[in-house]
Amino acid sequence: MELENVEKVASEEIDACENLDQLNETRVKYLGKKGLIQGFMGRMRDLSNEERPKFGALVNKIKSAVEEKIRIAQEKLEEMKINKKLESEAIDVTLPGYKFNTGVIHPLMQTIEEIEDLFIGMGYEIAEGPEVEEDLYNFELLNLPKDHPARDMQDTFYINPNTLLRTHTSPVQARTMQAKKGEPIKVICPGKVYRRDDDDATHSHQFMQVEGLVLGKDISLADLKGTLHEVAKKVFGDERTIRLRPSFFPFTEPSVEVDVSCFKCNGKGCPICKNSGWIEVLGAGMVNNNVLKMNGYDPEKIQGFAFGIGVERFTMLKYGIEDIRNFYMNDQKFLNQFKGVK
Ligand code: FA5
Repeated sequence: MELENVEKVASEEIDACENLDQLNETRVKYLGKKGLIQGFMGRMRDLSNEERPKFGALVNKIKSAVEEKIRIAQEKLEEMKINKKLESEAIDVTLPGYKFNTGVIHPLMQTIEEIEDLFIGMGYEIAEGPEVEEDLYNFELLNLPKDHPARDMQDTFYINPNTLLRTHTSPVQARTMQAKKGEPIKVICPGKVYRRDDDDATHSHQFMQVEGLVLGKDISLADLKGTLHEVAKKVFGDERTIRLRPSFFPFTEPSVEVDVSCFKCNGKGCPICKNSGWIEVLGAGMVNNNVLKMNGYDPEKIQGFAFGIGVERFTMLKYGIEDIRNFYMNDQKFLNQFKGVK
C-alpha cells in the first residue's frame, strides 16, 4: 500500500469496526510493532538524507491521525457497549412483581399464643406433660379410680391397660402438684389430647386444650369466674356473652361448664349449636379435696381452681368457623385467611 493511501484506508477500516475487538485488530494492523506504519518507518533506512526527514514527518503525521481516529472510535464503541449493557439490564417498572408465598401461623396456634400471652400477663407459668400418658395421671390421681363410671365421659385410646393417649390436659395438674410438693401453683398447660369421639362439625378425635391450675391460700370460685370472664373478653370481644352451667367432673367440686353464645345464630338456635344457642368451650371448677390430698396438698391450708379450654371451639367461635375439620385438612385456601390476623 502507498503511504498516501494509508490514512484513508485505515479510516475506512476503523469506521467499519463494529466492536472493540475488531478495533483492536485494526489498531494492531496499523500501529502495532509489526504494523503497516512501523513498516514505513523501517523503509527510512533506504532513503537519502534529504528525503528522510520529510518522509519521517509524513509517517508521523499519518500515525498521529490514525491514532486519533482509533481513540475517537474507541470512545464511541465503549459508549455503545455501555448503552447496550444498560439497555439489557434496564428494569421494567411496569412488570408485575414476584409473589412471595409466605406461610401462616396455624389459627389454633394463634389462639394458643393469644391465651398464653394473656395468662403470662397475669403471672402464670407454662407447664408441659406427655401426650402418651399413664392411666395414673390421666385418671387415678384425678379422683377417677379404675372402673369409675365417669371414665366413660372421655372415651379413651388405650395403648395397654396402664398407658393411653391423654384424653385431656388435666394429667398435667397432677404432675405439677407432685412436682411443686405443697407449694402454691399458677400454671397453664396447652397441648394435644385424644378421644374416641366420632368426628362431626364440633367434635374431633384429636383436639387441643389449654389446662389451667391455680392453687393458693383463699382462692375461691369468684377468682375462677373473674379469670374466665377476662379470657372470654380478650378472645371473643365484648359482644359475645358467656354462661356458667353447673356440671360434674370427678376432679373438681363444684364444677361448671362454660358456654359462649353461638357465633352463627347469636343465641337464637341453629344446627351449629344444636339449637341451644350456646357452644360449650371449657370445663372448670374448684379442685376436688381428694385430688389435693392424693397429690400431696392439705385442703385445709391450700385450695384453688382448674379449667380446661377447648382450643378448637374457642377458635371456631372467634372466627365464625362452622366445621372443626377445617383445622385439620391442610387446605391453603382456608389457612391463608388467617394471614396477619393477629
Ligand atoms: C375436660 O376435658 C376436663 N379435663 C376439663 C376440666 C379441666 C374441668 C379442669 C375441670 C377442671 P371436657 O371433656 O368437657 O372436660 O372437655 C373440655 C373442652 O374440650 C370442652 O369444653 C370442649 O371445648 C373441648 N372438647 C371436648 N371434646 C372435644 C372434641 N371431641 N373435639 C373438640 N373439642 C372437644
